[in-house]
Formats: sequence, C-alpha cells, structure tokens
Amino acid sequence: MIIYKTVAKIAAFIRVQNNSRLNIGFVPTMGALHKGHISLIETAKNENDLTVSSIFVNPTQFNNASDFEKYPITIEADIDQLEAAGCDVLFLPSVNEIYPPGTVAPHYDLGYLETVLEGKFRPGHYQGVCQVVERLLRIVEPDKLYLGQKDYQQCMVLIKLLQLKKINTIIQIETTIRENDGLAMSSRNARLNEQERKHAVKIFETLMMVKKELQPGNLEPLKQKGAEFLNRHQFKVDYVEFADARNLQIIDHWDGNTPLVVLIAAYLGDVRLIDNFMLAQ
Ligand code: PAJ
Repeated sequence: MIIYKTVAKIAAFIRVQNNSRLNIGFVPTMGALHKGHISLIETAKNENDLTVSSIFVNPTQFNNASDFEKYPITIEADIDQLEAAGCDVLFLPSVNEIYPPGTVAPHYDLGYLETVLEGKFRPGHYQGVCQVVERLLRIVEPDKLYLGQKDYQQCMVLIKLLQLKKINTIIQIETTIRENDGLAMSSRNARLNEQERKHAVKIFETLMMVKKELQPGNLEPLKQKGAEFLNRHQFKVDYVEFADARNLQIIDHWDGNTPLVVLIAAYLGDVRLIDNFMLAQ
C-alpha cells in the first residue's frame, strides 16, 4: 500500500491513474478502523481497479470539542488492517493539507436534511462533513464513493452534496456491520468502559423490539417505549425517531406502505452512539 501525506503527491498519482483510465473506489474514514470500515474496503476492492482510503479526523465536523479530543487514534493498527484488506492507497493528510491557512468554509444548502435528527442535535456537523468530503473528492476523483448505512443521514447528505456540486461520483451504500451481540461497530465503541459496553447492546435490542412491534398507525407509543427502555438502561436519549427512508421526513403516523427507517441517538456516559434499522422498503 502506498501512503501519501500531501495533496500534491496523491494528486500527481491520481492524474497518472486517470490517464490509464483505471476505476477508483474511495473509502473516506476518520481512522480507528474496524470491520465496518474494512468491509467497505473489500467491496471497493472487488468493484474497482484501484482502492483508495483516507484517514483524517476532520476537526470541522466535530460540534463538541471533547468528542474531537477524545476521538480514538490507532494509526499503526489501521495501516496493518488496510494492508491486510488489500487497499492500494492510503491518503493520510495533516489538517494544513486539507485546510491550508486562509481556507474559508463554504456554506452548503442542505435544507431540511440539516434541520432534523443529527442535523438538529449536532449543529454544523454536516457542514463540516460536506466540506471535508468535497475536498477529498476533488483530490481523489473517484468513480465510486463507498459509505456505510450506519450513518444513514450522512449518506443522504452526501447524495445531496454530489447533486449540489454536480460531482458525478457514484455513491454506494453498504449494510451496517455489527458485533456478535448486535452492537453496530463504531470507532467510538472503543471509548466505552466494560459496563457501558454491556449496556450498549440495548440500542440494537430497541431496534429489534421496534421491528417486532411495528404496526400501521400512531408510532408515538412505540417511540416512547423505545426511549424509556434506553433511559432505564443508563442511556441519555437524544432521539428515537421514525422517518421516511427516502427523505428523512419524520413519520408519526405510518400508513403501512411508506418506506420506513427507525433511527436512534443516545449517550452512554459521554459517548454518543447512533444506529438505525430499515423497517419497510
Ligand atoms: P467514519 O466514522 O470513520 O466512517 C467511515 C465510513 O465507514 C462511513 O461511510 C461510515 O458510515 C462507515 N461505517 C462506520 N461504521 C460502520 C459499520 N459498523 N458498518 C458499515 N459501515 C460503517 O463517517 C465518517 O468517518 C466521516 O464522517 C467521513 C465520511 C470520513 C468524513 O469525515
């Protein structure tokens, strides 16, 4: 695996690949890699001539300073995992490479998507995500961008970013990879203590309870039941919410046909976890 740390060097490499018309699959990450990230790399590898990944803990998408400071960094182990998975290129830039001094943050008109769920609870978060992903896409120029369903709203935001900026990369969304007990893999899981790790599975249990008990009609009681269950098990819930899976319009009353996704965000201690499950497609 080739590791590039500067924009100039990776850009020169990409130019050569483009001249040879090689397809590029791209997997952007913030590191602390786990099997969820690696499964994206493996899919990209199966479908492209070249697989490029990036590790960059993007300061502009953290709306909480301590979340940024405590974000796990495991770069040596990350490199080992990427090599084992057959990743061809790792882009490992510094903050100055991505945001040279004097960089002015653009504003992205994300509309409704930025006003609900993660957009509402993490103000500015998706502006930062769009800023870094646009920058990375302009550098890597991939044919395909691989994203995880784990971050459902991020996928929708990035689809919108590509439309807004007329970037013709194809987005491919891959299923959420879970631990044996159902907990969605996440870099932040590393910050849970032993007792919190045991409780963390309750998010998945809530998703499964909702799946089992879902019926057309008023969804409010089910939402409340889910939130109360989590609050009883040490969580501090930001939301348990149902939404139209196509556009994230919140659904309080389900007609039994509309594509439906349930989304959860909740804190265990100071670690914020998110997860979601597709209920009807
Ligand atoms: P990060 O949280 O490192 O995630 C990188 C990619 O891995 C994202 O597309 C995410 O949805 C996916 N992913 C995370 N956990 C997963 C799991 N359990 N199963 C499958 N895929 C999973 O998301 C980001 O970084 C950043 O916001 C980024 C897009 C890199 C911009 O900074």
